[in-house]
Amino acid sequence: MADLDGNKEASKYHLDTPATSEAFMMKGSNALDWGMKNRMSNIFNPETGRTVMLAVDHGYFMGPTTGLERIDVTIVPLLKYADTLMCTRGILRSTVPPTFTKGIVMRASGGPSILSELSNENIAVSMEDAIRMNVSAMAVQVYVGGKFETQSIHNLTRLVDMGNRYGIPVLGVTAVGRDMARDAKYMRLASRICAELGASYIKTYYVEKDFETVTASCPVPIVIAGGKKLPELDALTMAHNAIQQGASGVDMGRNIFQSDAPAAMIQAVRAVVHQDMKPKDALDLYETLKNEG
Ligand code: 5RP
Repeated sequence: MADLDGNKEASKYHLDTPATSEAFMMKGSNALDWGMKNRMSNIFNPETGRTVMLAVDHGYFMGPTTGLERIDVTIVPLLKYADTLMCTRGILRSTVPPTFTKGIVMRASGGPSILSELSNENIAVSMEDAIRMNVSAMAVQVYVGGKFETQSIHNLTRLVDMGNRYGIPVLGVTAVGRDMARDAKYMRLASRICAELGASYIKTYYVEKDFETVTASCPVPIVIAGGKKLPELDALTMAHNAIQQGASGVDMGRNIFQSDAPAAMIQAVRAVVHQDMKPKDALDLYETLKNEG
């Protein structure tokens, strides 16, 4: 207990310095509670307001996909370059070192495999377990226009309610079914629905035409998924265009872990996201780092 007697008189009230009341760095996040903002700051770099999320959750419906056969061997060495890791609780407990202190975005929906109807998902983790694993956000897939659209949206709203109770943000992941058009009109619809229903930020796909209307019409931050493996310059160009058109980062998996040089690629992606590096310069960086081994 502090001493009661003989204390130095308090005098430094800084009367000419108004108390600061800073706006939070993330779009649409000002009204969030302190815990939510703190967790968002584990995901988005406070200096740039952007993030490089390394996505390795594909196994929850695809099994051991290319590049993720041995997460301990191929992914753990990349963790130092990521702002955040997106994974399942199974991989987190079994494989991710608990000394990893950056944000964890936990895949919180699941059910069907690639062999069945993907939109038939349910919530796949309890709030207690998410808290136990100290996650910074929970990610839920939303299938707007899919067979189980309402069910997947209900998963989102239940997680938002539970997340709000404990200060854990929810990432709404817009899923594009096999027969759905990947265009700005669809991305605007799906992203906006997730935001309106309470997601703290949204993952969507980049589209060549009018992507800036997707980010403009979504009141919370958007990050883009990488999608299928592309040549490195194309992936870096996509990330660059998305950032310049209002995205707050990437949630990139295959274009990093299926690259010939994943460590070089994630560093090149970081330069695009956090330093606004041009795609060709980022490709040069990739080649240099790759050649250095
Ligand atoms: C898997 C996902 C992935 O996290 C997301 O698609 C990002 O990975 P990729 O860049 O490989 O598309 O949601 O369901």
